[in-house]
Amino acid sequence: MIQSSSELQKKVYRRVADIKQVVASDPYRLHYHLMPPVGLLNDPNGFVFYKGEYHVFYQWNPFETAHGAKFWGHYISDDLVRWEEASIALAPDSWFDKDGCYSGSTIVHEDKMYVFYTGNVKDDEGNRKSYQCLAVSEDGLTFEKKGPVIEVPKGYTAHFRDPKVFYQDKKWYMVLGAQTEAEKGEAVLYSSSDLESWNFRGTLTGSGQHGLGDFGYMWECPDLLEVNGKDILLVCPQGIPARGFEFQNIFQSGYFAGKVNLEKPTFDHGEFVELDRGFDFYAPQTTMDDNGRYLLFGWMGNAEEEDIIQPTIRNEWIHALTIPRELEWKDGALLQRPALELKNLRENEISYSDIILGSQGKSFQVINGLVYELLIEIKEWNAKNLLIQLGSSTSIMFDQTTQVFSFERVNFNGKELEQRHYSLDELHTLQIFKDTSSVEVFVNDGEAVFTSRIFDRGQEIVFKADGRIALNMSKWDIKRITSY
Ligand code: FRU
Repeated sequence: MIQSSSELQKKVYRRVADIKQVVASDPYRLHYHLMPPVGLLNDPNGFVFYKGEYHVFYQWNPFETAHGAKFWGHYISDDLVRWEEASIALAPDSWFDKDGCYSGSTIVHEDKMYVFYTGNVKDDEGNRKSYQCLAVSEDGLTFEKKGPVIEVPKGYTAHFRDPKVFYQDKKWYMVLGAQTEAEKGEAVLYSSSDLESWNFRGTLTGSGQHGLGDFGYMWECPDLLEVNGKDILLVCPQGIPARGFEFQNIFQSGYFAGKVNLEKPTFDHGEFVELDRGFDFYAPQTTMDDNGRYLLFGWMGNAEEEDIIQPTIRNEWIHALTIPRELEWKDGALLQRPALELKNLRENEISYSDIILGSQGKSFQVINGLVYELLIEIKEWNAKNLLIQLGSSTSIMFDQTTQVFSFERVNFNGKELEQRHYSLDELHTLQIFKDTSSVEVFVNDGEAVFTSRIFDRGQEIVFKADGRIALNMSKWDIKRITSY
C-alpha cells in the first residue's frame, strides 16, 4: 500500500498493519471477492473504467466492524478479476465530510476522474447535514477535494445522498437518493454544464408518484442507465413491507424500467423489480466500459441489524462486494450474468454430460468443493423437483409442480433455516459461484440471482430429484486472487 501524508490515513495504515494477521487467520476470508483489508465494507462506489483499467471504490470503516465515518477504499484491475489495492482515495478529514465520505460515483472528463460523493456531517446534538462534494484526480490514484457543490434543497431532509453522475445530450446529470420533508423516498435529478455548478431539475420518480403507492421513506443509491434502449433506474428504497415472495430483506434493491425525459424531468416506468432474490445484496452500482458493456457490482450485505452475529467480526472484518455482473435488457427484463472475465479464474475442470438423476429421492454425489463455479444445463425434465445441497447449510430447490424456486440457508446464528423464494416457470440453467463464505446463484442465464453469505465449511455437493432429469454439468475450482 502506498503511504499517504494525512494523519488520519496513517492511523488507518497502522491499524491495518496491527490486525492484518487476525483478519488473515479467518477461515471465511473470501478467495475471489473484494473485501475490506480490515473493518467494515459496504457500498461499491465510483465504479469506472479509466485509462484502460477498472477502478472500484468502496465504503470503508477501517476502525470497526460497524458503520461509522466512512473512507473510500480503492481497488484497481486491468482484467476485472485480479485487483490491486490502492491507497485510500477519500478520508473523512474535512469540515464537509467529517462524519463520512458517503457513497457516490466517478466520471471521466478530459482524462481526469471527477468523484462525486456525499459529505456526511453531524453536529454535537447528532443533527445531520449532507453535502454533495467533488474531488478530482489527474492520475486515478490521488484525489484533491474541491468541497461541496450542492446543498440540500428546500422540501428535503438531510437524507439526501449518493450522487450518480452521467453525461447525456451534451450535459452532465446527477441522480440522487432523497427523502422529502413528508418522509417519502425519491430519486431526484440535477444537471450541470461544467461539473461545478448544479441545477435542481426535479423528481424523476418516488414514493406516491407514477402509480407507486406508499413506496418507502427513503431511497438510497440511485443509478440511471440505458441498457439496450431501455431506461433503467436502479434504486434502493427503504421502508417497504414484505409481500408474498417479495421484499423479504429489510431494505430493497431493484429497478424500474421505462422511458426517461431528462429535460422535464419525467420517468414513465413499470413496477419495481428486485435485482437479487438472496439475503445479502444492496446498493449496486454500474459503469460502462470501453466496449459499451454495462457492469455492476453490489454490496454482498444489507442492513446493519444482522451484522453483529456474522462470524467474521470475531476476526475484525465484515462484508464483501459481489462478483461483477453484466447487464442486458431482453424480452422485458433486466438480465444479470457473471462477467465473462470470471472464466479466467477457472481451473481443474470436471465435466459430465447426460447425467440422469433418476429414482425418487436418490442422491447423486460425485463432486466436492468449497470454492468453485458450477454450471448445470437441464436437458430433459420429467420430475417434480430438483434439490441441490451445497455443504451442510445451504440448498437450492426447484419445484416444478408449484413453479417455485427456493434458496435455503442456515441463519447467521447457526440455528434456524431460512428461505427465499421466486416464481419460476421452468428451470433451464444454473450457474453457481461458491466462495469460502458466499454463494451467488444465477438462474436461467440471468433471469434471477440469489446472493447470500453462508458460513459453513462443508464441501459436499449433493443432487436429488423426484423424477427423471437429464443434465450436463461442469465444475471448476476458482483461483484465489485475494492475498489474505
Ligand atoms: C447505503 C448507504 C448510502 C450511504 C452509505 C453510507 O448502504 O446507507 O445511502 O451513502 O451507505 O455508508
